[in-house]
Amino acid sequence: MIEINDLDSVLIIGAGTMGHSIAQVYAQAGLEVDLVDTDQKKLDHALKLIKSNLDVLTEFNRVKMEEIPSIISRIHPKTNIKEAASDKLFVLEAVNEVVELKKKIFDQLSEFCPENAILASNTSSLDIFQITRSVKNRSRVIAHHWFSPPHIIPVVEVVPGRKTSQEVVDFSVNLIQKIGKKPIVIKKFIPSYIVNRIQNALYSAMYELLARKIATPEQIDLAIKSTLGIRLPIVGIAQSQDFTGLDLVLDIIKSKGGTLGLLQDKVDNNHLGAKTGKGLYDYHGKSEEEILKKRDRLYLRQLEFLEKLTSFKRI
Ligand SMILES: NC(=O)c1ccc[n+]([C@@H]2O[C@H](COP(=O)([O-])OP(=O)(O)OC[C@H]3O[C@@H](n4cnc5c(N)ncnc54)[C@H](O)[C@@H]3O)[C@@H](O)[C@H]2O)c1
Repeated sequence: MIEINDLDSVLIIGAGTMGHSIAQVYAQAGLEVDLVDTDQKKLDHALKLIKSNLDVLTEFNRVKMEEIPSIISRIHPKTNIKEAASDKLFVLEAVNEVVELKKKIFDQLSEFCPENAILASNTSSLDIFQITRSVKNRSRVIAHHWFSPPHIIPVVEVVPGRKTSQEVVDFSVNLIQKIGKKPIVIKKFIPSYIVNRIQNALYSAMYELLARKIATPEQIDLAIKSTLGIRLPIVGIAQSQDFTGLDLVLDIIKSKGGTLGLLQDKVDNNHLGAKTGKGLYDYHGKSEEEILKKRDRLYLRQLEFLEKLTSFKRI
C-alpha cells in the first residue's frame, strides 16, 4: 500500500457536476490530477467551471487569486482512460449513476491500474461492492461519497464494503484529511449511507404533505427553515432528541403502538437527555442549566445570522 505522502497524483473519472469540482479540490491540495471524460468538449466545460469556482472562492479568501494558474495547471484533462490509469495508485470514479457504466469503468481500472491501486466510487445510491465483483483484489474498492458542491461542502462519507481492507479505509481517511476535507467512516455499507438516508426520509414526508395538499411548498420551507434550520447546525438530529427528552420521545412512539429497545434502555437507566446529564450524548457531569445556556447562546447567534441573511424569505 502506498504511503499517503508518496501519493502525488490521482485520477478522477467523469468531469461532470461532481468530478470537475472533486478534481479541483485535489489540485487545490497540491496533487496532480488526471481528469478523464468521454470527449474534449466536456473537459473544456469542466475547466471553465473550475476556473469560475476558484474565482468565487477568492471572493471569500479561500483561495488566493495568484494561486489559480498553478491549481489549474495541475489538472490534466484526458480522454484516454488506459493511459491515465497506468501509473495511478488512487482513482475516484464519478461517472453517471448507471450500473453497466460503473461496471465497465471498474473493469477497465482493474485491467489498466497497478494491482495495488485504490479504487473509489462516488456513487450515491448504487451498491458499488456488488457492481465490482469482477475486479481483481476487491479489498481495495471503497466508496468516497462527496456532497455537492465538493469544493465547498466539507464532509466526505467513507464507506467500506465487506471485503474492503482496514488499510484502505485508513488510507482513505488520511487522504481526505490531507486534502482538507472531513471524512466520516460508516461501519459498513448500507444503501444511501448516512446523509442521503436521512435526507430521503425528509423528502418522502415533504412529498406526502404536498400530494395530500396538507401544505404548500412555501409553507413547508418556511416551517422547516425557521425551526430545524436554526437547530440542526447546532445540535444535529441525534442530539436534538436529548433536548426533546428521550422519555417523551419513547412515550410518543408507544402512543402510536411502537417500541424501540435502544430508547427503552436509555429511559430505564434515567438517561433522558440534557435534563439528566446523559441521553444519546454524555454531558460529562455538566448541569442542565450549563447545557441549556450553551445551547441557547448558539441558537441565538445562529438566529441572528440567519435573520441578517434574510434567509427566512424565499429566494
Ligand atoms: N450530483 C450530485 O449532487 C451528486 C452528489 C453525490 C454523489 N453523486 C454521484 O456522483 C456520480 C456522478 O454524478 P454527477 O452528478 O457528477 O453526474 P454528471 O452526469 O454530471 O457527470 C458524469 C460524467 O461522467 C462522464 N462519463 C460518462 N461515461 C464516461 C466514461 N466511459 N468515461 C469517462 N467519463 C464518462 C459524463 O460524460 C459526465 O461528464 C454519480 O455516481 C452520482 O450518484 C452525485
